[in-house]
Amino acid sequence: MNKLLIKNGTIVTMNKEREIFKGDVLVEGNKIKKVSKDIEVEADQIIDASEKVIIPGLIQTHIHLTQALYRGQADDLELLDWLKKKVWPLEGSHQAESNYISAKLGIAEMIKGGTTSIIDMETVHHTDAAIEAIYESGFRAVTGKCMMDYGDDVPETLMENTDDSIKESVKLLKKWHGKGNGRIQYAFAPRFVISCSDDLLKRVRDLSKEYDVMVHTHASENQGEIQIVQQDRGMRNIVFLDKLGLTGEKLILAHCIWLDDEEMKILADTGTKVSHCPNSNLKLASGIAKVPELLELNANVSIGADGAPCNNNLDMFEEMRSAALIQKARLHSPTTMPAEKVFELATLGGAKAMCMEDKLGSIEEGKIADMAIVDLNKLHNSPCKDMNIISQLVYSAKSTDVDTTIIDGKIVMLNKNLITLNERSILNDANRIVGKQCKLAGIKK
Ligand code: GUN
Ligand code: FE
Repeated sequence: MNKLLIKNGTIVTMNKEREIFKGDVLVEGNKIKKVSKDIEVEADQIIDASEKVIIPGLIQTHIHLTQALYRGQADDLELLDWLKKKVWPLEGSHQAESNYISAKLGIAEMIKGGTTSIIDMETVHHTDAAIEAIYESGFRAVTGKCMMDYGDDVPETLMENTDDSIKESVKLLKKWHGKGNGRIQYAFAPRFVISCSDDLLKRVRDLSKEYDVMVHTHASENQGEIQIVQQDRGMRNIVFLDKLGLTGEKLILAHCIWLDDEEMKILADTGTKVSHCPNSNLKLASGIAKVPELLELNANVSIGADGAPCNNNLDMFEEMRSAALIQKARLHSPTTMPAEKVFELATLGGAKAMCMEDKLGSIEEGKIADMAIVDLNKLHNSPCKDMNIISQLVYSAKSTDVDTTIIDGKIVMLNKNLITLNERSILNDANRIVGKQCKLAGIKK
């Protein structure tokens, strides 16, 4: 088995004791074989991490790779206008090639910033192309095609017949679930309650049980959205999802801002996963999720950047910093969301969201080797001497401080050079195709 030895780094283990120490990490195949002060072994490859920090790969639990190509095309709108006027027509204009390029653009950005895993929602069509990009790049993703069979203002290019939506989802699941040594997992992805019929949601519930896969959707992000659910379904959004039997450990809900006390309790009691997307929530003027209150109830919270057109980056360092800062300001409490808690949500919390807490999220023997090597020796993190490394990672570090990224035991970026992806051609392809896509969507560039 291939042996990779990372020497002399400061290891942020995120083990139970939250140990941080200077040492070596031995990777054998796709697993972390040994973590200790000094490992003497013949390795196929050695990375010198002296003066650098080794962290568990960052896990973003709500992403739309399909929207990466549309960064900057939908600024300064609130959610429902943002969807109807820009994002839905843009998604509807995707071809297989443009969705493939969009996925590669998003993946490259995230690998460069130390993100090793995502939970991704694709668009309605051409999901095969996006998953192909995930497969080729060596990235880890829980992903699925978006499902939309109901509601107002859904463009023809996205509106589906319920049976077709299910059929296509199951076809993709059968083709991809578990592929790439388990790096790819399929999840059903109904977009949100207001664009899904009861029939679709119930069938998704049953199929997710049948195939033992996750369900990934948006919930209670926007006040207009929850009003529509109330009018149309006669109850609050999370109560509706709970009544349908969708809540539970296999369900991940992006956002969860507009919750009442009963809904917060439902999420915590059922073990439903919440993906907090702080910068998207700020930019779409959606609001600020009650994350400390959810954590107080022992809810499972993790973090994601959401889509490029509502952020406009897919940068976990930015999300971590914002996740801390916005709560301090909201609650007028500087001790709320300390760096240690935020870093936990970005690693172990993400692993739990993926239902992979026994395999990902920390640097410990037996876990899968998903890691990043970060060079904190920069002006914006300095002075570094005797600094609290977790504080640096959450409050001052930037994604550009990441030097090397390892996924499933394979180096996907080394010394800032992408290995599995060609950065230059991704940039060229994205620039070449975006104008055509906007034109097809009827959106002026
Ligand atoms: N709700 C339904 N679809 C979307 C989406 O694409 N992005 C966000 N932020 N919220 C949504
Ligand atoms: Fe989203």
